[in-house]
Amino acid sequence: MSKYDDLAEKFGTPAYVYDLEVVAESRDQLFDMLPEGFHVFYALKSNPHPEIGRELRNGGCRAEISSTGELANALTAGFDPAGILYTGPGKTNAELELAIAAGVRLFSVESITDLRHVGAAAEKHEVTASCLLRINTTASSGGTGIRMMGRASQFGIDAETLPALMPALKSVPGTRVVGAHFFTMSNAQDEGSLLGEYEFVLRTAAQLRREVGLPLEVLDIGGGFSSPYAVPGPRTGYPNLRTGLEDLLDLHLPEWRDGGIELACESGRYLSGSSGSLLAGVVNVKEGRGSRFVILDAGINVLGGLSGIGRLLPAAVGIEEAGGEVGSLVGPLCTPGDSLAKATELPELAPGDIVTVPNVGAYGVTASLISFLGRPAPTEVVVRGDEIVSVSRLDYQRAYEVSP
Ligand SMILES: Cc1ncc(COP(=O)(O)O)c(C=O)c1O
Repeated sequence: MSKYDDLAEKFGTPAYVYDLEVVAESRDQLFDMLPEGFHVFYALKSNPHPEIGRELRNGGCRAEISSTGELANALTAGFDPAGILYTGPGKTNAELELAIAAGVRLFSVESITDLRHVGAAAEKHEVTASCLLRINTTASSGGTGIRMMGRASQFGIDAETLPALMPALKSVPGTRVVGAHFFTMSNAQDEGSLLGEYEFVLRTAAQLRREVGLPLEVLDIGGGFSSPYAVPGPRTGYPNLRTGLEDLLDLHLPEWRDGGIELACESGRYLSGSSGSLLAGVVNVKEGRGSRFVILDAGINVLGGLSGIGRLLPAAVGIEEAGGEVGSLVGPLCTPGDSLAKATELPELAPGDIVTVPNVGAYGVTASLISFLGRPAPTEVVVRGDEIVSVSRLDYQRAYEVSP
């Protein structure tokens, strides 16, 4: 019996429940693991719910966004637009203008043309945009996790092109290059990998400053903090991260101690992941040809739709009340791809029962095939311990309005 069964009864399933107490705990834990003075950007892509954003903002986080939808949610959450970081390889002129009109002033740029687009939008509004050059490093440290750099990519300016490009990058009207942005990996499951990556990033940043004049008033070293996804378990601890990172900074960028560099990192899953559980209802249990299928009202339209393209850990969910029987957890969609767990241990389940998938506060709703097959989006219930804070549901189900 889940502690949230009463919420499932009250609000129906499928439903996500996010606990703000856990969001606050994750936030404080992350700040504690970082050297004093680090800025933490919350990646709204992991969960743009404004209540989660507000909780993180209240504890000192800033927002990292990549779209005008995320911008709207960040503003609703109360983030100061001047402190927001706007990232992404395909920022359109329209969205840049909207962001600048809303007061966003800090952009990560992924190419010289991207920088020029930011500059043009800033000039229209007669402001100067501060820009971080996102660097696509020539290699990577080789640790575990989802790699995003060190090969041909739509992300970042290739490090080897910087010597020739730097003068042009520094003279784009409407912009001022203030620093660098690295985001080389996501979901580093051990401290050694994370520190190895940061060692590589800090060494590279210092070298580029020395050799090609890369400005480093601001340095965003990326993220990579890991959190379990759709399986039970605690957030990854990084007990030596703080001292390890301090040592690396002392070695490569010693002026950080006097505040000579504004240091930042980014996190989505670590901040929101463990706050969320998915409550799914059992619609049917089907036995046949030696197999047992537990059919839920939640499938890849509600959870794990992105795992197929490798951006997430595979959605082989582990439910909180695992037991002794073996069966497959499947969703309600008309595709054999709608599977949440194959031949896994399940308790005795019958229609009407509720199963709880833990640790899905990040990349749950946002990373799912929400509109596929036209089912309603899941309900999202925000709680603070036992208190219900808000109940909402995204509206993706409207019929097309086709003009004649
Ligand atoms: C630029 C950038 N920042 C932050 C994140 C958030 O990553 P995570 O949720 O693993 O912390 C991502 C994820 O892909 C990203 O690409």
